[in-house]
Amino acid sequence: MERPVIDDDTFVLVLTGAGVSAESGIPTFRDANGLWERHRVEDVASPEGFRRDPTLVWRFYSQRRAAAAGCAPNPGHHALVALERRLGDRFLLATQNVDGLHRRAGSERVVELHGNLFTSRCACCRRAPFADASVYADGTVPACTECQGRGDFGPLRPHIVWFGEILASDDLERVAAFVDRGAARRLLFLAAGTSGNVYPAAGLVDEVRGAGGDTWLVNAEPPANVARFDHFIEGPSGVVLPRLFG
Ligand code: OAD
Repeated sequence: MERPVIDDDTFVLVLTGAGVSAESGIPTFRDANGLWERHRVEDVASPEGFRRDPTLVWRFYSQRRAAAAGCAPNPGHHALVALERRLGDRFLLATQNVDGLHRRAGSERVVELHGNLFTSRCACCRRAPFADASVYADGTVPACTECQGRGDFGPLRPHIVWFGEILASDDLERVAAFVDRGAARRLLFLAAGTSGNVYPAAGLVDEVRGAGGDTWLVNAEPPANVARFDHFIEGPSGVVLPRLFG
C-alpha cells in the first residue's frame, strides 16, 4: 500500500467524516441505511425544522446521543491519536463528526466543524454552549434556565451546525492558519470517511492543493470528488489508517 512520507518538516491536516465512525457502529448519513432515511433533513437538521417541531428534533438528537454514548472509538480514531502524539503542533484534526469519538480516543488538537452532539446551547440567549448528555426521549423540549423569568423563554437546542447555518469563524480561521503554516514547510492533507458533499469542509482539498500541499483520501468507496485528490486508498478507515501511520 502506498504510504505518505511524514518527516520532521511535515504538517498534517486531517479531515474526517461519518465513515470514520462507521466501524464504531454509528450510521453514516448517505449510505443505504443512512441516518436521514427516516427523516427529511430539513425537518431534523435546520433552524426552520426546529422552530416547526422542536419535539421531533430533540427526539432525533436524543436517539443520536444515546446511540453515540454506547459506542467506542475504533482503530482509525486511535491511529490519528498516535499520529498527533508524534507530530504535536504539526498536526490538526478537523472533523465533521459530532459524536465526540476523536476526543474520547485521545485526540487533542481537534476542530469540531459541525459542533458536538453532547453540547447544548440556548436558541435565544447568548449563554455559552455547555456540556449536556441529557436524553429527552419522552418529547420534552428543554428550556434554558438562564433566560427564564425574562419573559422570552428560550428552548435549548443541540450545539450542531444545521443546514442553512454557518460554521464558527474561529474554527475556520484555525484551519486556515494551519494550512498557511504548513504551506511554508511541507503540507499533507488527509481526508477520511467523507463523501465530500458538504461545504466548506469539502473544499479543503482545493485549498490545500492551491497552497501546494499533497492530498490523500481514504474512503470505503470512491466518492464523487475523488479526482481532486493526488492519492486515493480504497478501504475501511479502521483498517487503512493504522496501516498508513503504523
Ligand atoms: P457521508 O455519510 O456523506 O459520507 C460518509 C462516507 O464514508 C461515504 O463516502 C462512505 O462510502 C464512507 N465510508 C463508510 N464507511 C466507511 C469506513 N468504514 N471507512 C471509510 N469510509 C467509509 O458523511 P459525511 O461526508 O461526514 O452534517 O457528511 C458530511 C456532513 O453531512 C455531516 O457532517 C453532516 C451531514 O449532513 C451535519 O450534520 C451538519
